[in-house]
Amino acid sequence: MKDLLGLKDLSAVQLGLILARAFSYKKQFGSLGRIKKVLADRHILTLFYEPSTRTLTSFNVAAGRLGARVNNISVSGSSIQKGETLIDTIRNLEVLGFSAVIIRHTHGGAPRLAADNTKMAVINAGDGFNEHPTQALLDIMTMQQYKGSLKKKKIVIVGDIAHSRVARSNIWGLLKLGASVTVSGPATLIPKGIEDFGVRVEHDLDRALSDADFVNVLRMQHERQADQNFIPSKREYHRLFGINEKRLARAKPRLLVLHPGPLNRSVEISSGIADGGQNVILEQVVNGIAVRMAVLTLLIGRAKNA
Ligand code: NCD
Repeated sequence: MKDLLGLKDLSAVQLGLILARAFSYKKQFGSLGRIKKVLADRHILTLFYEPSTRTLTSFNVAAGRLGARVNNISVSGSSIQKGETLIDTIRNLEVLGFSAVIIRHTHGGAPRLAADNTKMAVINAGDGFNEHPTQALLDIMTMQQYKGSLKKKKIVIVGDIAHSRVARSNIWGLLKLGASVTVSGPATLIPKGIEDFGVRVEHDLDRALSDADFVNVLRMQHERQADQNFIPSKREYHRLFGINEKRLARAKPRLLVLHPGPLNRSVEISSGIADGGQNVILEQVVNGIAVRMAVLTLLIGRAKNA
């Protein structure tokens, strides 16, 4: 495989391979100096057309732990020309000697366009509403860390499903691993026909959570909502779809809460839950490094000694 563009394209076996390698890297986090610098001769570029905190930093940390050199380019949204410009950029990067380019882009499909036009490995770090594969991999890794195999486990994804690439990648990955996925949120933010993907839709969040093992809480993607009013107010949203102490008291006691970040406290999640013992949000961030180390070495490492 040359690229990682989305989880839709991967088989359960390929997912398992990435996750196994991620778990094995994580075991080495106690002695970072001993991690083999298998990417020491590699030069990686991050090309971000949208803001990022965790994903960008996490890729940098992952690459650094493997000895790779990283350059970061961030492009302001307004200057983007689609199509040729991206291809031209990619062609220039290729002759500059990069092995891999990690792309975050406003438009779904941009990483694929890049991948189709270069020999470099392309990793999708989030494209429009489409996919965010390393985020879903780290979510899945975190779920497996706490509860083992995800076969028949019940996962609720709640929030702005319509504008979320995290939701899409989670759905593809989780279904391939045999989990059962329910999406919940206001009708205005659940795409029509999403059941065809193989998920259940439950607008009553309390009902959705009643037998759930995990809830993955999404942020309202205001920047992608083109100024439309999908919800009457943030307060109303929190009352119906927010994850808070009152709501979790009615769910399974061992339900775990995930969130890809950034958190909007008091909107989709209360501070009590965000700072409490039932969430695994910071563990997700740690696992993100391991997942990205696994992906980088699988794509551009020398297979045997990675
Ligand atoms: C997500 C993203 O950018 O898609 N964040 C992330 O990568 N951790 C989710 C979000 O922005 O809400």
